[in-house]
Amino acid sequence: VKASIWTGYGSPDVLRMGEVEKPVPKDNEVLIKVYAATVTAGDCEMRSLKLPAMIRLPMRFYVGIFKPQRITILGQEYAGVIEAVGSEVKAFQVGDAVFGTTGFSLGTYAEYKCLPANSGDVALARKPGNISFSEAAAVPVGGLEALHFLRQANIQPGERVLINGAGGSIGTIGIQLARYYGAEVTAVDSAEKLEMLRSIGAKHVIDYAAQDFTQTGEMYDVIFDVAGKSPFARSVESLRENGRYLLANPSMADRMRASRPGGTRNQRVIVGSAGQRSEDLEYLKQLIEAGKIKPVIDRYYSLEQVAEAHHYVESGRKKGNVIITIRPDDPV
Ligand SMILES: NC(=O)c1ccc[n+]([C@@H]2O[C@H](COP(=O)([O-])OP(=O)(O)OC[C@H]3O[C@@H](n4cnc5c(N)ncnc54)[C@H](OP(=O)(O)O)[C@@H]3O)[C@@H](O)[C@H]2O)c1
Repeated sequence: VKASIWTGYGSPDVLRMGEVEKPVPKDNEVLIKVYAATVTAGDCEMRSLKLPAMIRLPMRFYVGIFKPQRITILGQEYAGVIEAVGSEVKAFQVGDAVFGTTGFSLGTYAEYKCLPANSGDVALARKPGNISFSEAAAVPVGGLEALHFLRQANIQPGERVLINGAGGSIGTIGIQLARYYGAEVTAVDSAEKLEMLRSIGAKHVIDYAAQDFTQTGEMYDVIFDVAGKSPFARSVESLRENGRYLLANPSMADRMRASRPGGTRNQRVIVGSAGQRSEDLEYLKQLIEAGKIKPVIDRYYSLEQVAEAHHYVESGRKKGNVIITIRPDDPV
């Protein structure tokens, strides 16, 4: 079966079309016929190993020291249809349309992928009925991350939430979730993404190249830094009484400062990363079906064009999500 093979660490040109054996599900697994996958910022970071030093080495040990060997196909999320189930799988049936994450196994730049049906490392749920496979593929990674942080912030109606780096896969769902929780949202990203951010519910927008959000005099109840670029002390100072500072991409120094943020108004810092819980994906499915969240899609590429898609995502121009269409989408 066809796949885009990850042949080395480096530029997008290390991604080449190839053939792999069709996988066979184990007793606890489902075989998924992949309809769509995404190219995320995280995929590009893994491919090129442009990662913090403390992650780079374990990554090489896990994927392959000199080149990818244990893991040879990228792709962390997908939507598709179950083609076969292992003997122990009870919750899903052949023909179910599903979406989810792969956890560390990766491998959705391919026509087929096997995944465990009930594992704490992999989120798997039925696909929302009101969106396409391509749209559904764009939800799991960014959606679970956004949900994980915004839930911990315990947003109250009317609170002011700022999302820094709001134009990508985490932020575009983050804006809509924060709105759903009743917040007034300020979205920060580059100029060409601001109109899109308003269209999905941001009341205020800031072009980060033109203005530093910590220097405007505005105060927030929650600052969610998706991009990992907000200045720590000034961000804490921009929080109101009992404000929460959520860091999806904390540096080592930020992690160390998190327990003593230093503000005088009882501000809290929350770091960490999302788990892969199927029930959380199920929750996102319900919000999508209720019309509260709609995935933002920028461009579509074919499996043959994965390298091109990586070039585009790396350019930083991506608005929302970039999709790899593996099979023609079903009309919704
Ligand atoms: N903690 C985890 O487990 C976890 C999970 C998923 C993702 N991540 C990481 O989280 C990061 C964001 O993920 P994502 O998928 O949402 O990425 P994304 O889709 O690339 O979105 C990030 C956004 O941040 C913007 N940005 C860049 N520099 C900025 C700055 N200085 N100020 C404000 N905005 C800025 C980017 O715009 P421009 O490019 O136009 O500047 C882009 O729109 C990635 O590094 C990813 O690897 C972490």
